Amino acid sequence: MRYEFILNFNFQTSATTLTWMLYELALHPDVQEKMHEEVTRVIGTNKSPSIEKYYELIFVRNAVQETLRKRPPISLIPKLCRTKTTIGDYEIPENTEVYLNAYEAQHDERYWKSPHSFIPERFDPTSDYYTKRPSGTLIPFSIGHRKCIGSRYEFFTLIITLKDSVKLRQRW
Ligand code: HEM
Repeated sequence: MRYEFILNFNFQTSATTLTWMLYELALHPDVQEKMHEEVTRVIGTNKSPSIEKYYELIFVRNAVQETLRKRPPISLIPKLCRTKTTIGDYEIPENTEVYLNAYEAQHDERYWKSPHSFIPERFDPTSDYYTKRPSGTLIPFSIGHRKCIGSRYEFFTLIITLKDSVKLRQRW
């Protein structure tokens, strides 16, 4: 695998997600407020929090999930169908390029209430809505054998960056 490919997928997707996240936060001061409250309560003035502390930032993580749902950085995921395949009513000839449409899956009204609204609470692990969501409806990192290997790393990078941004907000 080419290094450029890995670096590109890594930096561009992270930068895009962070940009959209900050945009959504600017539009939703209430979400900003909740994140600020959680970071202050969980991390406080601790300059080097343990990894466990980051796991406690549930609302911040939910806001990251909601950004990746509403604005997936890779909205069409390219695949090559190597052999003749039938999916439902569709017959796909061999060597056809097909795309997983992450944007559509993540805005499908059958599974997402008010899909165009930014609602981090929908990712609360205790919500029925979250636990009953079928697989394949949230695929910013793709699905299957070739799905992104960086998803967990990515979450931590974003949460650590956002944690500092919402702390800095005190000085804005
Ligand atoms: C918001 C951030 C990211 C998003 C949305 C994202 C999304 C994706 C998607 C959609 C794929 C294609 C999977 C497929 O073909 O089915 C992929 C592949 C990949 N990603 Fe990410 N990615 C992100 C961050 C990262 C990071 C931080 C790393 C490395 C540390 C990384 C490394 C890779 C690699 C190596 C692949 C190729 C996997 C393979 O083909 O087996 N990604 N990513």
